Amino acid sequence: MNIDRIAGVAPILLGINIDHVATLRDARGGGHPDPLRAAMVAIEAGADNITAHLREDRRHIRDADIERLMAALTVPLNMEMAVTQEMLAIALKHRPHACCLVPERREELTTEGGLDVSAQMAAITPFVAELRAAGIQVAMFIDPDPEQIRASRKAGADAVELHTGTYCEAALGGDSITLQRELKRLVEGARLAAREGLEVHAGHGLDYENVAAVAAIPQIVELNIGHYLVGEALFVGLGESVARMRDIMDVTRAEVQDTANELRARGA
Ligand code: PXP
Repeated sequence: MNIDRIAGVAPILLGINIDHVATLRDARGGGHPDPLRAAMVAIEAGADNITAHLREDRRHIRDADIERLMAALTVPLNMEMAVTQEMLAIALKHRPHACCLVPERREELTTEGGLDVSAQMAAITPFVAELRAAGIQVAMFIDPDPEQIRASRKAGADAVELHTGTYCEAALGGDSITLQRELKRLVEGARLAAREGLEVHAGHGLDYENVAAVAAIPQIVELNIGHYLVGEALFVGLGESVARMRDIMDVTRAEVQDTANELRARGA
């Protein structure tokens, strides 16, 4: 381990994605369970920010949710959205703390794969510039692919959110070689992104089992997690499910810091 890389490891933030509270609400069309109430419980349990994806088809989060979250949240809102003029107008109207640009296909169940920034450079660059001019931090949700990381920097993004979906699937698959390969892609992607001057986030598919290896990557300063924690909340309550994730992330980060301190003390 290279001490220069991990000396003074930054704390890791937890963003809670509340989309699936809205999924449950919308199953009946009423107002219960309320995503804003879920956000407040998550904050109380240790969430540093709240993430909500306003999809083009409004399948869970609605425009009114964004409005209510912006009015009531005591922590930053990270709005996930597709690169469309409609979403740009909504973001510029509400000015959330951050926007994470994601690919979107109507037929998908969830965000499958990262944004192809390098193929859409001409459309994405002015889009990013408009958001940044409004004081909004812009992240690209991308696969941990060097070409996409470099393209994100060239497009003017502040941050990248590395898609952890393939790593999480490998963790479920039980093949340790595939798992190590996917983890290595995240580790190297995070290093490259940090070298390019980008803030590094990660998310998708994270759970109590697979999160530690990702939280141990010192360049990653934010994780965005939703589906697993909302599901787990059915059994233990949302506050408890979020607090446990917070705890795993904090313990992991403290271990990384201890290792850095030990190496420094030994003059490594
Ligand atoms: N980050 C981004 C950009 C996403 O699109 C999603 C899924 O909506 C997440 C994080 C959270 O993924 P999960 O719900 O699997 O934890």
